[in-house]
Amino acid sequence: MDRPPNWNLDEIDLSPVEFWQRPWAERDAAFATLRTFRPIAHFDDPIIDSVAFAFAPGGGYYALTRHRDIATASRHPEVFLSGPGAVSLLDLPTEMVEYFSGMISTDNPKHARLRRIVSNAFNPRTVREIEDSIERIAATVVSRSLMNGTGDFVDDIAAPFPLEIICTMMGVSPSEYETVLRCSNVILSMGDPDIVSEGTDPVLAFLDAGATLTGIMEELGEFRRDHPTNDITSALVNATIDAERLTQQELASFFVLLVTAGNETIRTTLSHALLALSEHPVQKARLLADYDAVAPTFTEEIVRWATPVIWMRRTLARDYTLSGVDLKEGDKVVLYYCSANRDEEAFVDPEAFDVGRTPNDHFGFGAPGPHFCLGAHLARREISVMWRELLHRAPDIRSTGPPAQLASNFVNGIKRLPYSF
Ligand code: HEM
Repeated sequence: MDRPPNWNLDEIDLSPVEFWQRPWAERDAAFATLRTFRPIAHFDDPIIDSVAFAFAPGGGYYALTRHRDIATASRHPEVFLSGPGAVSLLDLPTEMVEYFSGMISTDNPKHARLRRIVSNAFNPRTVREIEDSIERIAATVVSRSLMNGTGDFVDDIAAPFPLEIICTMMGVSPSEYETVLRCSNVILSMGDPDIVSEGTDPVLAFLDAGATLTGIMEELGEFRRDHPTNDITSALVNATIDAERLTQQELASFFVLLVTAGNETIRTTLSHALLALSEHPVQKARLLADYDAVAPTFTEEIVRWATPVIWMRRTLARDYTLSGVDLKEGDKVVLYYCSANRDEEAFVDPEAFDVGRTPNDHFGFGAPGPHFCLGAHLARREISVMWRELLHRAPDIRSTGPPAQLASNFVNGIKRLPYSF
């Protein structure tokens, strides 16, 4: 691959959408320049035309680009808060908070309570059920797709697979899958015209998607109270101790969070995996030679390589000096996981895709701290089971054309990726 041009430090601005439309190698080169010369840089807030009236820009943000600074911020959640304004770059407008105020945007003591309730619902019995369903759904999705010999990898495999798993896990009926997928796409699209059709108000589409998901979960929660099964919804609404049960509103927010956190991330990882394995045949050969032995390191490496969640935001609870930079109470900082995952201080040869990489202290699932990805275990399993199935059934599977990159500063997504085998 040609080396991207070197960046002039003062030309780098992470806020305009144009930056995120650049090829991945150019973006990585800009972050390498920031890490070296201005690792904690200040930028003005982005102006997102499609949703400008709803998200008012504030006083800008500090971009944390080094692995060690992001680790420090995550280890001090009492200083670097997730609650105020939510973890989005611009403060969430109040009308959105109702749907999008899940545990990811809360701090202690509320966060600890929510996380405990949800973790308890993932008891050994529910986890076993989920694991069985992953194997079954992977086999079904691959069988369905392999009938044609060619197609769009995102549509055929990467999108339906995690969606069916989350819906099965929560007990959502198959007749609702399409609706759930459409709503999760709208919520994460930031008005991308491929997803929110022209002439539709993106904020109303966003609120409508949140309300639809909430409606599905309210109805299901109500039903599962009297008709429990082994799904997670039943466990969440039927906990025996009052304080350990989610309210209707908490259940709905949790569902919106699960659907958005657990779909697009896995979809992005699986699609980047096809691209990376097609572009690195030696690495693919290592996997094919002994999949089960290499799968654990491959799974971590593809999450580092893809970094599906580009950043998360925190807000300063008090003044704090981080690596010599004086941050003030109320300042916003953005933890660029994509940059931490290419930090030459933390990884040997970070630009290399190495399916056997050890150690691999990546921040793809967030850095160690209370908000570390709740679904990391499930995600690792989904990725390794799906790739085992694909390489077993279609060992010559490959991408056959350039990926359509999602124009998002938040999800490192791929909208379309042609493939054949
Ligand atoms: C490769 C796939 C995935 C990636 C890359 C990913 C990434 C992340 C990241 C970076 C965070 C940290 C948020 C922060 O720093 O504030 C997070 C949190 C979270 N993730 Fe994941 N995730 C993945 C899959 C999943 C799945 C499959 C689920 C659920 C089924 C899930 C559920 C959650 C939840 C609920 C949180 C919030 C945890 C909290 O705030 O305590 N994720 N994820």
